[in-house]
Amino acid sequence: MLRKVLRFWRDALLDILDGDAHKVLHRFAADVYRARYGGPNKLHIEPIAACNLHCEFCSIPPPLIKRESRFMSLEKFKKIVDDVKPHCVVMALYLGGESLLHPQLPEMVAYASKQGIYTELSTNATLLTPEVSRKLIQGGLDSITLSIDGASKASVEGMRLGSNYENLMHNLREFFRIKRELGKRKPDASFQLLVSKLNKDEIADFEAMAKGFGGHTRIRTLGLPTWVGEGVDLKALADKYILGPEEAAPFAGYEIDREGPCTFDQRSVVFADGRVVPCCFDIHGAHVMGNAYLKPFHEIWSGKTYQQTLPLVRAKQLDICEGCDLNPKRSDAKIKAQYSSQASP
Ligand SMILES: C[S@@+](CC[C@H](N)C(=O)[O-])C[C@H]1O[C@@H](n2cnc3c(N)ncnc32)[C@H](O)[C@@H]1O
Ligand code: SF4
Ligand code: SF4
Repeated sequence: MLRKVLRFWRDALLDILDGDAHKVLHRFAADVYRARYGGPNKLHIEPIAACNLHCEFCSIPPPLIKRESRFMSLEKFKKIVDDVKPHCVVMALYLGGESLLHPQLPEMVAYASKQGIYTELSTNATLLTPEVSRKLIQGGLDSITLSIDGASKASVEGMRLGSNYENLMHNLREFFRIKRELGKRKPDASFQLLVSKLNKDEIADFEAMAKGFGGHTRIRTLGLPTWVGEGVDLKALADKYILGPEEAAPFAGYEIDREGPCTFDQRSVVFADGRVVPCCFDIHGAHVMGNAYLKPFHEIWSGKTYQQTLPLVRAKQLDICEGCDLNPKRSDAKIKAQYSSQASP
């Protein structure tokens, strides 16, 4: 609780120093609105369901996910922002793919940001060119996760298949140079490393690298991809990337899999084709609440389907909750059985 309060005031101070005092006011207004009329405080939006990399461990590799349309137009995005603005405080502009493939992503960030919404992005940084960096920073992006996954060419390119280490380092150097040049404190930049067999000896170097650039680190273990979809050889993946119990022990103090309690009763997700689902882990759209392109968002949220689903989300009783990292009652036994049933002979 204290952490939450401190974070709130730290963000408020950064907003004011960066000339975004309207975001502080919006947060108060949205809290008052939600207390009276309800609505989720965080939206996860998928601008594009495609990726230029093919990280093998990716829990939601874009080719495996089905969408009617893989691309959200700027107009449709604006419609959703206008719908959710009264109650939405935070918007994550990524889900099943690499959002910087969308040519108007900076305009999306700028639009949501102008409405007072705190904007978040997670990116593989391969397309974070100096031009895009400048637009994102000027557009008021609040938080960026740089999914780099290593401190050496071998581990970065080994984890992030299809990336080029030198290109990434250039993009990162330029991003922080431009941020300094513009005199902006935001976006808050975290370098993310998913601990695996390929990078487990590079944590200290990774932390030094992030600090050298001017960011901080987020070290997590590679999740067991419990919802990667049919046909993925989990055993082979685990053999290549996932640490055994003894190797994993030194990382016990890090944020392992669990990101904290599930708060999806206060969040919602919109796919690139407009479908609304109750949780990011419902990546294949098993629980569609409606389509935000066809109806005002609040009608979907207050509709019978969503209102009947929310108690199941709170109780973690959706089918997808069973193996979820954020479910304290998750069935580890089921996951282990899944791995061993695919064991190589
Ligand atoms: C699916 S990606 C989409 C955004 C962007 N393409 C990226 O890589 O940051 C969102 C986040 O999921 C993380 N991720 C992918 N597979 C994972 C896994 N098996 N365990 C834990 N995190 C994973 C990525 O590292 C990234 O931080
Ligand atoms: S870059 Fe992101 S979305 Fe693309 S494959 Fe890797 S983790 Fe998945
Ligand atoms: S517990 Fe269920 S609703 Fe919550 S994050 Fe996990 S899958 Fe989603």
